[in-house]
Amino acid sequence: MKNAIPCERFLRTFAAMFNRLQQKWKVSGLQLTLILCTFAIGGSLTGIVAKKIMPLLGIDKGGLWVIIYIILLTLIWPMAVLLISIPFGQFRFFTRYLKKMGRRIGIGRQAADSVHRIAIFASGRGSNAEKIISRFNNAGQNGPTVALVVTNNPSAGIITLARQSGIPVLVVEKDKFAGGYVKELKEAGITFIVLAGFLWKIPVALISAFPRRIINIHPALLPAHGGQGMYGKHVHQAVIDQKEKESGITIHYVDEQYDHGAIIFQAICPVEETDTPGTLAARVQQLEHLHYPAIIASLLKNH
Ligand code: GAR
Repeated sequence: MKNAIPCERFLRTFAAMFNRLQQKWKVSGLQLTLILCTFAIGGSLTGIVAKKIMPLLGIDKGGLWVIIYIILLTLIWPMAVLLISIPFGQFRFFTRYLKKMGRRIGIGRQAADSVHRIAIFASGRGSNAEKIISRFNNAGQNGPTVALVVTNNPSAGIITLARQSGIPVLVVEKDKFAGGYVKELKEAGITFIVLAGFLWKIPVALISAFPRRIINIHPALLPAHGGQGMYGKHVHQAVIDQKEKESGITIHYVDEQYDHGAIIFQAICPVEETDTPGTLAARVQQLEHLHYPAIIASLLKNH
């Protein structure tokens, strides 16, 4: 009975650490168990291999021996965990983990933006998507790429464009969208989400899975003329009705409200007295095409 309290305390601490790690790495309980097994077996394998190699080097025990031993452990450990991660089905997790560790200690820092895999969410024609795809998917193999197109509209023009560019398409369904399709996006290795005329509200599950990694473009100067139902011609009609002298574009992080998160960038154009929603839309669209791909590129450099 005396041991019951320390044992209970240990289990509680372990469960809390387990939960914290699960949230930090955004993995299921089963996946975290497999990851911890990989760490444990990979670590033991590292020790065994290093101990076998040391006698072959013929170095006497002492300061130099310890330094060489530590260097060997550091070199063998990434290879050992990667190897062990294969049978545990965690190779993808460990390649990302090791890349992140490498970047943290300065290795591969320049290539920080090269690992990004972008998902474009769009509901319609996809003229912005087209500009983004042509900027990133023609930029050579080392840069960020558009790796997935997500749409709620099975007849959206963006689908044809994606297929022509060899980009997979995910058509999402309303009743499952509350879950955010996080599993599918993670499985596709998506690291950044760009909304380009996507008309459904982004669910909290997706926002929490990609914190400050989802951005949107809106064809007006937010906070004015945004919100539910404010898209396309409706926005430009409202700008004209309000007799605004200027309109433009807003690129912003996505939060739980329509057209609402922190603003990243705005560009302005005049509203002419003779403007119709069509003429104003064309002027605003020029700004979108000019700025959206460039803003995405500069954001990815810092993410
Ligand atoms: C763009 O003008 C974008 O700003 C707007 O949808 C259009 C999509 O055009 N988004 C919103 O209104 C969001 N509230 P596209 O399909 O030609 O890229």
